Amino acid sequence: MQADIQIDKNYIPKHVAVIMDGNGRWARSKGLKRVLGHQKGVESVRQTVEASVELGIEALTLYAFSTENWKRPKIEIDTLMSILVNSLKKEISTFQKNDIKLQAIGNLDKLPSKARNQLQEVIKMTENNKAMTLTLALNYGAKEELIRATKSISKKIVNNELKIEEIDEKIINSHLYTFTLPVVDFLIRTSGEMRISNFLLWQIAYAELYFTDILWPDFRKKDFYEAILNYQRRERRFGKTSEQIESSNT
Ligand code: IPE
Ligand code: IPE
Ligand code: MG
Repeated sequence: MQADIQIDKNYIPKHVAVIMDGNGRWARSKGLKRVLGHQKGVESVRQTVEASVELGIEALTLYAFSTENWKRPKIEIDTLMSILVNSLKKEISTFQKNDIKLQAIGNLDKLPSKARNQLQEVIKMTENNKAMTLTLALNYGAKEELIRATKSISKKIVNNELKIEEIDEKIINSHLYTFTLPVVDFLIRTSGEMRISNFLLWQIAYAELYFTDILWPDFRKKDFYEAILNYQRRERRFGKTSEQIESSNT
């Protein structure tokens, strides 16, 4: 049976985050230049976005460029940025048709102005859309996010706007880039690497993790459905016992 038919529409993760990895290896395995892998990965983004909308996922967050990715050759960074600009332009109609709100997390000030401007234009155009929030993590690093949050909380304490005793999960959440998003329920990473690579550290504290060997340019809707089915087979206990979970389900 097709994976999407088996999916229980009443138990869909609210927030899915994806580490889209393996573009370079995909290209190399075909004797192509790495950048062609990134180009090819755009179709995988489209399929993942469409599948998420179809399933009624509230928030989809895609790791597109990390604070560490600046260490790559300039030509690769430039190509990634131009793929971003072109894809954003091309996908405006998809966002509008599917009622998708685009937003971005990360230190956007450091992005090339062309990328930042295009991003801001699409964010503005889609700000009232409601079906799904698509968040692109760009120049994003979880450590940078936590440092930034710590600085701004400290400033509020120094200015007597906040008391140390008032710092709790809510306060920390509200100082993260992701403050408007629900916590991450499900994190997918492609390409067989089993690491987090400085993605949403705080937000994945209780997320279910899913690793697949599929390289990002080969990732298709059916692979996303498979991942969601895998999520639905898990028991999320949040520290409780199985018996407690079972009795609250009946
Ligand atoms: C993911 O693919 C895209 C980005 C990190 C921007 P990679 O470019 O990391 O591909 P591999 O891991 O080298 O195969
Ligand atoms: C993580 O992939 C970043 C993105 C997918 C944007 P990397 O390919 O940069 O991660 P590492 O270097 O293998 O940990
Ligand atoms: Mg990689």
